Amino acid sequence: ANRKKLLVLSGDHVGPEIIKEAIKVLDVVAEFRPDIEIDIEYGLIGGTSLNAYGLPISDQTLEKAASSDAVLLGSVGGPEWEHFPGHLRPEIGILKLRARLNAFANIRPCRFFATSLINRSPLKPEIVAGVNFIIVRENCGGAYFGSKDEREEIGSDLWVYRRAEIERCARVSAALAMQPSHSGEKHIVWNADKANVLASSRIWRRITHETFSREFPELELQDQLADSMAMLLVKSPTKFNGIIHTDNTFGDILSDISGGLIGSLGVLPSASISSVPGQGPCKGIYEAVHGSAPDISGKGIANPVGQILSLVLLLRFSFEMSDEATRLENAIQVVLDSSEYQGLGIRTPDLGGSASTKEVGDAICAVYRSGFQTIYG
Ligand code: NAD
Ligand code: IPM
Ligand code: MN
Repeated sequence: ANRKKLLVLSGDHVGPEIIKEAIKVLDVVAEFRPDIEIDIEYGLIGGTSLNAYGLPISDQTLEKAASSDAVLLGSVGGPEWEHFPGHLRPEIGILKLRARLNAFANIRPCRFFATSLINRSPLKPEIVAGVNFIIVRENCGGAYFGSKDEREEIGSDLWVYRRAEIERCARVSAALAMQPSHSGEKHIVWNADKANVLASSRIWRRITHETFSREFPELELQDQLADSMAMLLVKSPTKFNGIIHTDNTFGDILSDISGGLIGSLGVLPSASISSVPGQGPCKGIYEAVHGSAPDISGKGIANPVGQILSLVLLLRFSFEMSDEATRLENAIQVVLDSSEYQGLGIRTPDLGGSASTKEVGDAICAVYRSGFQTIYG
């Protein structure tokens, strides 16, 4: 039989709340594919793992992750663990997982996943309408993974990049840029760095250009300093439609800006993958861009859409179930749009609605089942 191994790490605070909805949706997706057997295992990460094992992720969980086809990951962290020493913070669990799986490219798409979400953006519709870019964030290097020195009077993170790390990330950005847009064109790749100041950025820029001109001469590559890109993303976001190729730290910050553009961090998905997409199934970690949102956890109102869209990416990249991925993406869109037009409120409060996490999950399941005619229309 066609078997897929999935490890689910629910994490902390809203993590388990949104993971529950994603798994419910996955069960419905699986109903329509009896030929595929999905083995699901569960494990702990973050604060919940610290509480159970004294570690943000155990070696056993890391090995389980390594032998799975994909990891569905909830968000981690919270005030309970804020005072833990640096190497024992919940967030370290995620970094260890990314490193263990060598999930070196973090793909973070930003667009309006439903047309009616445009009204939720804090920006004027004429500025933000049509925004559509994918951030490719280097995920296993840079300041996050360089050696650290942490003492009473000094703290330092070595921000280092090596040729091979930049080349492989550039190949992922290029592969995504090659996938033609609706108008059939290849996408522009925007390289964001601080080559005016940082040595690690100068090698980033140099190797990125070398790789593109050697391997992808047909693609257009443009440089933009990361700080001015942050400004321009707010002022004229559609300028960057295409691929944003950037380092770990800048990608983290630019992807939260993209949540601001869309109007809620709660809808953005991410995929951290370990090989170039389009060259067979890749292993990956699928998590929402947002954090554990301790301020709203326990109330049942966290938006599950970012997590369920991450499941869409999982189906597409790791399970090679692209028809199901598209069908699920459409179902999410129908649910979000129907609430706006028909006042049914199948949206969580971050999107101006009054639905619960569970109601959004249920609606997505129902629309998926009904073959995406809106069941409410
Ligand atoms: P956050 O992303 O958790 O929350 C920022 C704001 O967005 C909050 O007001 C929150 O309520 C809102 N928000 C986030 N997700 C939402 C959702 N699904 N639905 C509705 N509203 C949502 O960022 P933070 O508060 O700065 O960080 C909280 C904790 O999360 C920290 O410990 C941080 O390290 C951790 N964190 C984890 C991840 C991850 O696990 N991938 C990512 C970022 C931050
Ligand atoms: C993210 C998060 C993580 C990061 C943290 C929790 C390690 O902010 O996935 O964006 O900084 O990469
Ligand atoms: Mn982040």
